[in-house]
Amino acid sequence: MTHNITLIPGDGIGPEVADATVRVLDETGVKIDWDRVECSERIIRETGESIPTPVLKSLERNRVGLKGPVTTPIGGGYQSVNVQLRKKLDLYANVRPVRTVPSLRTRFQDVNIDMVIFRENTEDLYAGLEHEVVNDVVTSLKVITRRASLRIARAAFDYAAQVGRKKVTAIHKANIMKLSDGLFLKCCREVAANFPDITYNELIVDNASMQLVARPETFDVLVLPNLYGDIVSDLAAGLVGGLGVVPGANVGEQHAVFESVHGSAPDIAGHGIANPTALLLSSAMMLQHIQEVSAAERLRHAVEDVYREAKHLTPDVGGKASTKEFADAVIAKLQH
Ligand code: NAI
Repeated sequence: MTHNITLIPGDGIGPEVADATVRVLDETGVKIDWDRVECSERIIRETGESIPTPVLKSLERNRVGLKGPVTTPIGGGYQSVNVQLRKKLDLYANVRPVRTVPSLRTRFQDVNIDMVIFRENTEDLYAGLEHEVVNDVVTSLKVITRRASLRIARAAFDYAAQVGRKKVTAIHKANIMKLSDGLFLKCCREVAANFPDITYNELIVDNASMQLVARPETFDVLVLPNLYGDIVSDLAAGLVGGLGVVPGANVGEQHAVFESVHGSAPDIAGHGIANPTALLLSSAMMLQHIQEVSAAERLRHAVEDVYREAKHLTPDVGGKASTKEFADAVIAKLQH
């Protein structure tokens, strides 16, 4: 079976890591017909659209996309491409697996970290409902709905059940925001009741942050409203080596976009030394999503093996290899 997938290489280092990823995916044996569309600072400025129409049409058609970073134009009132995609395609779940990368030197390298974060992507303080009540007094509305809370909780529990994970932790501040975070927790509890085999617990966000640093290995699946999810998912990425090595996905009922969470890195664009790990691991998530489960696992293991061997790593993670050499090393591991 051939999968039709939208490829958005992006700009800056985007095309470099996207080309490396496409080359590696070719070697997995999974048949993909790429629909390559341009989304870059240049085209956004040229068309005046924060998300160019052909990009949106392609994603609507194919329902699955792989996306590199896109430079957000400064000035001109453009919204970030990611925010636009989330809104237009109702990508309500931001999913970020955070796993220890073998041999990568970090402060937590001796700890086995393996968690998956489900961040609600559509509401909370990100609803953008702010207003000035009187001069120098501003309010910002935190919107929490039953519908959005239930569906993110379901996404977290469905995932846990599907892959055999044991525990889901809901993170909140319901001791202070009794109504809004209280509703979020109520929804998580309702969903948890349908999954008696999965342990469910709750942590207040400040305590959760402390525990994430003190005992990261005790976390499994996490589910959070938007703001805490945004902060905690970057905190967690920092535990395993930063945004350059963690994958991500934005998933809705109908569509899913898999992306590297780092930016377009203009400082190293064009030098051929960008690290494609984040996009490669995102593409492994994508393979899982399109039911190519064994190829997804082989790809993940091949990337881990290259790190374990530590001979073909890019400069950002202490090596000397180019993007191409890193990708070649992953391909060699895939063929073993
Ligand atoms: P950045 O992530 O592009 O760069 C921060 C630092 O990390 C730089 O020193 C860069 O060289 C390094 N870095 C990032 N990814 C790397 C990789 N794969 N390999 C090796 N080194 C890597 O963040 P910055 O500079 O804040 O943003 C640059 C542009 O990217 C901005 O226009 C921003 O709006 C955009 N951006 C886009 C995102 C997306 O499309 N998902 C996400 C974040 C930023």
